[in-house]
Amino acid sequence: MNRHALVRPPGRSFADAISSTGAAIDVCLAQHQHELYCDALRLAGVRVEVLPPDERYPDSCFMQDPALVIDGKAIIARPGAISRRGEELLVAPLLGQHFPTIHIEAPGTLEGGDVLVLSDRVYVGESDRTNQAGIEQLRAALHPLPVEAMRVQGLLHLLSGVTYLGRNTLLAVEAFAGQPEFEGMQVLVVPAGEEYACNVLGLGETVIAPEGYPRTAAMLACHGLRVLTVPVSEFAKADGGVTCLSLIYTEAI
Ligand code: GLY
Repeated sequence: MNRHALVRPPGRSFADAISSTGAAIDVCLAQHQHELYCDALRLAGVRVEVLPPDERYPDSCFMQDPALVIDGKAIIARPGAISRRGEELLVAPLLGQHFPTIHIEAPGTLEGGDVLVLSDRVYVGESDRTNQAGIEQLRAALHPLPVEAMRVQGLLHLLSGVTYLGRNTLLAVEAFAGQPEFEGMQVLVVPAGEEYACNVLGLGETVIAPEGYPRTAAMLACHGLRVLTVPVSEFAKADGGVTCLSLIYTEAI
């Protein structure tokens, strides 16, 4: 499988990214961490296309949110965060070179961080960033692929609490472990204190995980995965994780 990643390094304005933590962001360190993240993607066999930073959009390094590719279709999202509106228009022409594009329209909002893509279905978080109208539009766009909505509370996005490892297995925080929607799937629960580490980027046999969460890394390794850990402290300050930093797609056939 030829995986591609679109990434955008943080610019100076990343210091003003939306943040629930209020922690001061070290932009130089963030830029260095972003380079290490790209190295990890390449090590995992992903072809990385690096876009230029865009100072107009402090959060635009979080490339997962403004658009996503599912089932050979480019879904151009409509961010719920007002300061992020417009990021989607930067990536739409790039994806349009490879895929048919479908735009989420007002009053719908949708951010890629709320979209959990499995091989045969999609879960979408109804969150502060993604609303019912956005979910309905996504459902129509992906028909006949099943799209199931899930409530997200106390987290930025659905993927802040659960990510897909492949092979019918999820990595999740405790709160998501018993969800009836996930019946029939294996759900690995991150150890208490390592909740942030449930956000990992599954890339086949390899998984990219945040550095500093050894028990989660050990659990993933025991599960037979090659674990590449990367430092993402500056992105965590802006509520972002390893999935947030890239828009992953496979080549259109
Ligand atoms: N800081 C990432 C976001 O709020 O979208």
